[in-house]
Amino acid sequence: MTGPEISGPEPPHQLTLRQPDDWHVHLRDGAMLQAVAGATAAQFARAIVMPNLRPPITTVAAASAYRERIREALSDGCPFQPLMTAYLTDTIEPAEVERGFAEQVWVACKLYPAGATTNSAAGVTAIEAITPVLAVMERIGMLLLIHGEVVDPAVDIFDREAVFIERVLAPLLQRHPGLKVVLEHITTADAVDFVRSGPPTLAATITPHHLHINRNAMFAGGLRPDFYCLPVAKRELHRLALRAAATSGNPKFFLGTDSAPHGRGAKESACGCAGIYNAPFAIESYAAVFEQERALDRLEGFASEHGPRFYGLPLNAGTITLVREPVLVPQRLHGNAAAGTAAELVPFHAGETLPWRLV
Ligand code: NCD
Ligand code: ZN
Repeated sequence: MTGPEISGPEPPHQLTLRQPDDWHVHLRDGAMLQAVAGATAAQFARAIVMPNLRPPITTVAAASAYRERIREALSDGCPFQPLMTAYLTDTIEPAEVERGFAEQVWVACKLYPAGATTNSAAGVTAIEAITPVLAVMERIGMLLLIHGEVVDPAVDIFDREAVFIERVLAPLLQRHPGLKVVLEHITTADAVDFVRSGPPTLAATITPHHLHINRNAMFAGGLRPDFYCLPVAKRELHRLALRAAATSGNPKFFLGTDSAPHGRGAKESACGCAGIYNAPFAIESYAAVFEQERALDRLEGFASEHGPRFYGLPLNAGTITLVREPVLVPQRLHGNAAAGTAAELVPFHAGETLPWRLV
């Protein structure tokens, strides 16, 4: 199909942005943490660290110790700031949640519907069970981060986000009008519409992979586990709605990579794990989308400003620079051999060339 020649100003050669933050990342623990922490710290000043370890981070002491292990995994003097989260269970005590917030150990709580995704078995089985915790969070101004998918096996996997919004999220916002909520890693036009038209207490993160791929990617020429994540990628119309939202300049949408490393063996298996490892080329991946959408002037808001404003945190003072030079993403990344990890990781965009390179 041929169309009119698209003409417009040439993209700039160099782009300097206020340093971005990642508002949703899995840094794991042990050898995997050693292998992946540096990639996130190389791009982002801060990151919201997911608590779905085994066992999950459900106490102030566990979050504090995990934060220390993240710092130790980075080189001395690395200014990266891990922002910790509490993993909500049916039985977590409101007082524990409040204490961790007051002591500045964690900044938010993560709600995983039990069974929705990797290491979510200890998650919440009935949202009503945690009403007292949500009431405390609402009172103290602590954010709720939501994996927004129902786990009802009768619901088609591609509909789980839209059904969650209708069955769980909308009533939740009604019950807790003062609670700040981030709907994490949104994947549908339904979520875009709901967040856009929702109250100012509601925002959403968007991953690079959901901006680049639709569900066809998982089946292109055979089964492609490297494109499998949760929530699963949807059809093209949803990807286009996400691209429009991310590049719109609307402050309700901001960067959250959901970088979720699993070793190659765990991905390429009879029951492969959900998760895409995008941290090493995350900002380059977003920059490619914003350039394609002719919205490079809006990348800084999405990557570096909307998130901290929603969280009520200061904007970063430092900057990063991207140059318009091709960068080849390796087919494989090896874990840190010195740290004793054998896990080989396949990064998002493996084997592709991206147009912007981080200096
Ligand atoms: C995440 C993981 O592996 O921890 N996987 C994923 O596909 N995104 C969990 C999650 O965020 O759902
Ligand atoms: Zn995640």
